[in-house]
Amino acid sequence: MTAQIINGKELSAELKQEMKVEVEGLKQKGLTPHLTVVLVGDNPASKSYVKGKEKAAEITGISSSLIELPSSTSEDELLQLINELNDDKSVHGILVQLPLPDQIREQQVIEAIHPDKDVDGFHPSNIGKMMTGEDTFLPCTPFGIITMLKSKAIEMEGKHAVVIGRSNIVGKPVGQLLLNENATVTYCHSKTKNMKEIAANADILIAAIGKAHAITAEYVKEGAVVIDVGINRQPDGKLTGDVDFESVKEIASYITPVPKGVGPMTITMLLKNTIKAAKGLSG
Ligand code: GUN
Repeated sequence: MTAQIINGKELSAELKQEMKVEVEGLKQKGLTPHLTVVLVGDNPASKSYVKGKEKAAEITGISSSLIELPSSTSEDELLQLINELNDDKSVHGILVQLPLPDQIREQQVIEAIHPDKDVDGFHPSNIGKMMTGEDTFLPCTPFGIITMLKSKAIEMEGKHAVVIGRSNIVGKPVGQLLLNENATVTYCHSKTKNMKEIAANADILIAAIGKAHAITAEYVKEGAVVIDVGINRQPDGKLTGDVDFESVKEIASYITPVPKGVGPMTITMLLKNTIKAAKGLSG
């Protein structure tokens, strides 16, 4: 079997077109969704993500602003800024780019953002709603993954989904969203024994480990759906995934590439969340 590719770049382009039309409608009613991105320090990867977000916002007609702060910024200074943005009615979504410098506690910052402006879906209140299945902002990468699966009408109910990785941003929430879709979910992580056997039992395999080409064909069952969340920079500067694409594509039924896979979907779902924030959570 040669797998069908789920192209996140193409799906993103379609979704952005739909959003553009929706944003035009909102603008006619006097509502322009606005996203404020806060970048602390000069991490090159963060800078490039933030650029991608600004560009994508522009394509959909969403207005965005970037606040850049020096790496010496104190936690109090950042919390003060977040309070101001929480109170600013023209700002619908707030995103503080992670990671933050060591002197700033990430969790304090995440919890300072008003849950109604938390377009990352990282606030404990929104994570709680996600767990109970209430309507809320879903974390962008997991939301993008579920959207990719749905775009190909891939059945999740009753399927064995194996998530490799347990980060707060990707692994944990994607497992929860798969559970919400009635999949049977197993998490694997660095302390898991027999990871290969567990992965090779998956109908849907989510690789979010952060190690280039760690998932080889031996980890994959014939006909499995393989979602690669890895973004690993190779010595030649090119990006590559956690999955050994060339060997796994011969076994899987569907596979996401890197680049042009999950990455573009993350930004697209951020824009979806920004529109949702502008309309009001229930809108
Ligand atoms: N850094 C890497 N991914 C993300 C993300 O999805 N949101 C934020 N705020 N920072 C990130």
